[in-house]
Amino acid sequence: MTFNIVFVLTALSSLLYFCRRPQSLYKYLPRREIFQDIQHKRDVKPSKSDRGIKSSPQSTQATTDDNKLDHYRLMYYKLHNLEFYPSVIPNARAELISLFAEGIQKGKLKDGGLLEMSHYDPESVKQFIQKENNRIRQRYEKYIKRREKGGPRELLTTTEEAKTWLIQRAPSKYVDGAWLGHIHRASTPFVLRSITKNVWQVLSEELGDGDLSKNHAEVYRKLMHSIDAHIPDADSREFVSPTLGLNDIGIWKSAIAQLLISLFPHDFLPEILGFNMHFECLTWDTLLAAKELREMNIDASYFLLHISIDNSDSGHTAMATRIVLDYLQHVSKLEGDQAAQSAWRRVQVGYSLSAMFIEKQEDIIPPSQNIYSTELKRIFRAKSTVSDKLHCGSKVRFGGKLLHEWLNPETLSSDAEADRFLRVLSSSKPWVYMEDSSKSRLVKELKWNGKMFGAFTEDELLVLEHWIDACKQSAVEPATYWNFIGGKDPCSRDEFCNLDTRVHYPVISSQRISEDYENTPDSTMITTQTLPRFLTRQPVNLDKFLPIWFAHISLLEGFVSVPFKTCTTMACAIVAILRAQYGFRKETDGVAGMDELQRTRCTGLIEIGIDMMRDAGKPIPQGLRDVISDGPDGRFALDMLNLSMSPARNCDLLLGMACAFTGLHDSLAAEPDGTLPLSGENLGMIRCIAERERAGLEICLREVKRCRDRRVNFSEGVRIAKREIEACFQ
Ligand SMILES: *[C@@H]1O[C@H](CO)[C@@H](O)[C@H](O)[C@H]1NC(C)=O
Ligand SMILES: *[C@@H]1O[C@H](CO)[C@@H](O)[C@H](O)[C@H]1NC(C)=O
Ligand SMILES: [Fe+2]
Ligand SMILES: [Fe+2]
Repeated sequence: MTFNIVFVLTALSSLLYFCRRPQSLYKYLPRREIFQDIQHKRDVKPSKSDRGIKSSPQSTQATTDDNKLDHYRLMYYKLHNLEFYPSVIPNARAELISLFAEGIQKGKLKDGGLLEMSHYDPESVKQFIQKENNRIRQRYEKYIKRREKGGPRELLTTTEEAKTWLIQRAPSKYVDGAWLGHIHRASTPFVLRSITKNVWQVLSEELGDGDLSKNHAEVYRKLMHSIDAHIPDADSREFVSPTLGLNDIGIWKSAIAQLLISLFPHDFLPEILGFNMHFECLTWDTLLAAKELREMNIDASYFLLHISIDNSDSGHTAMATRIVLDYLQHVSKLEGDQAAQSAWRRVQVGYSLSAMFIEKQEDIIPPSQNIYSTELKRIFRAKSTVSDKLHCGSKVRFGGKLLHEWLNPETLSSDAEADRFLRVLSSSKPWVYMEDSSKSRLVKELKWNGKMFGAFTEDELLVLEHWIDACKQSAVEPATYWNFIGGKDPCSRDEFCNLDTRVHYPVISSQRISEDYENTPDSTMITTQTLPRFLTRQPVNLDKFLPIWFAHISLLEGFVSVPFKTCTTMACAIVAILRAQYGFRKETDGVAGMDELQRTRCTGLIEIGIDMMRDAGKPIPQGLRDVISDGPDGRFALDMLNLSMSPARNCDLLLGMACAFTGLHDSLAAEPDGTLPLSGENLGMIRCIAERERAGLEICLREVKRCRDRRVNFSEGVRIAKREIEACFQ
């Protein structure tokens, strides 16, 4: 919603001026002056139309906002360190569903929004996204013209303002990519992997494809340094300290939304895909920031990067749209058109959640319906017929409509439109503070000494006041979400206690490993040259081997779930290792973008595992539960899955295990007469994967080597995994 409060105020006041009652004091003011006033205000700040309304909140409002801010900050911290705060998970899910509900409520207020597309149709979706992009581009062209004619900067005026703007955005920029952080796991149902792998490619690009200097969060961190903003790491306690002064509640909220939506990839996949489709679209702020920061000699690379990488032809916008279409086609093929239509609803929900943060709106939609609304509508209608001839030529958009369009007898004669007007009005601070008419500027202006004094009679004013006082902030009801998608919450709180790592996510267990794997401290360092070797010509016990094969893919997955945690050389090396294990092509200097989506066959370790099962004459597995049993054969596999959920606590142990498995890959690739059912092609794949794994591990081991305690944990990981792998060949 584009909404210019200054302009609305002046325009409405002039409008009401014309429908004033005879005794109005306005008669002493010459008409022209008022128009000059409007003109002036519009010219001074043309750009502000895109920004939210800064209100000076009253004290009670301030306290609730502060509480919320604290709440978001704490949650931000916990979500960055999830393995130490697993108890936040049920709350996180509830919070996410409330956000969905809010996104739906706000999305419904918008004319021409995606929610209006009640029936899924691929062509319309493509056109819609294209249209959204064109709209921004055209608006940008107009902006450029204004600038060429010598117009002022419209987003950031002074260098100081720019710096503050950038610093305040750190909480959300530091989670760039977070909405996809948990996508494409070993536990992802295999049938969905062809979809989630493409989304993971988007994530991989957000993380720089393994190159720290291209990692988006890192680019923003560099930007912070370059403007001398020495803010703490995003995952630290200090970062969420109120004394730091990062206190834009909308930004924290948007950061929380990005972190939350990623957290339940198996439960909310369509929502994630929809969120991604909106999030990857170009935004007005990005376009303007890229240009205006450069003018001020501030490093604009973060924003330039997002203009090029998110482009709608081959970049993230195109990828995101294509992924949604692929997914819905997939659902339709597997489960029928009905299922695809309901999946579409959920895509819409995700999209609306992201959109909610771009199109600035007030926090909560008020029920502007109360016993006074009918009378108030009647009053506005009466005013509108008097002021009918007046079209103040304003370009103000107010809930998607020009002001004079609202106050037009025909518009207001429709009850739905009149309701809409009240709804929009009621959420327009400082005009109207719900439940507090005395704070509301509209009332003040209509009173004695106000600019619009006389436009309303005393009785009419009373109706307005009563109406405002009766406007109650509505809580966002989670049911809004369930009703919209036509389902009900399948998940009760108790269910969080008995989750299965093979099918659910996230499942964090604080226990380390199921039993003592003969722990004798040993700090001898294995290098990538001295990886364990395995006798793969010995007969293999597939019942033992297959579970650990499928589970070992999870070992390093936890390291890349939160963008800020990937701002290290080691984590970037892990991104590169995962790319190899998932079957992505070797990193090049460019970005793969749509190219990666064009590849149909993408052979990673899971796909190789599935091939082995097929070749061994076993039933084709649908997911980890079909491969990993509860019995002794599944024990080590489950341990690996559990450990992988706590990458900080088990860092070196996990790396050690990953090294042992690279040793296995090496051994398999070197032994064409091995006993595993592996085709020559898959052996070749494994060879390539092992090579890239070694290159990445080399980088990780440099760090591990330096510290004795880390070496001990690392060696233990190697030893445990080695013993378990060896036990499969004898
Ligand atoms: C691993 O996770 C499962 C739940 O998925 C749990 O039952 C088991 O106790 C965990 N094992 C360890 C060693 O933590
Ligand atoms: C080694 O592992 C133990 C157990 O998980 C952990 O408590 C310890 O902090 C680790 N040591 C290092 C240096 O990471
Ligand atoms: Fe990004
Ligand atoms: Fe992106």
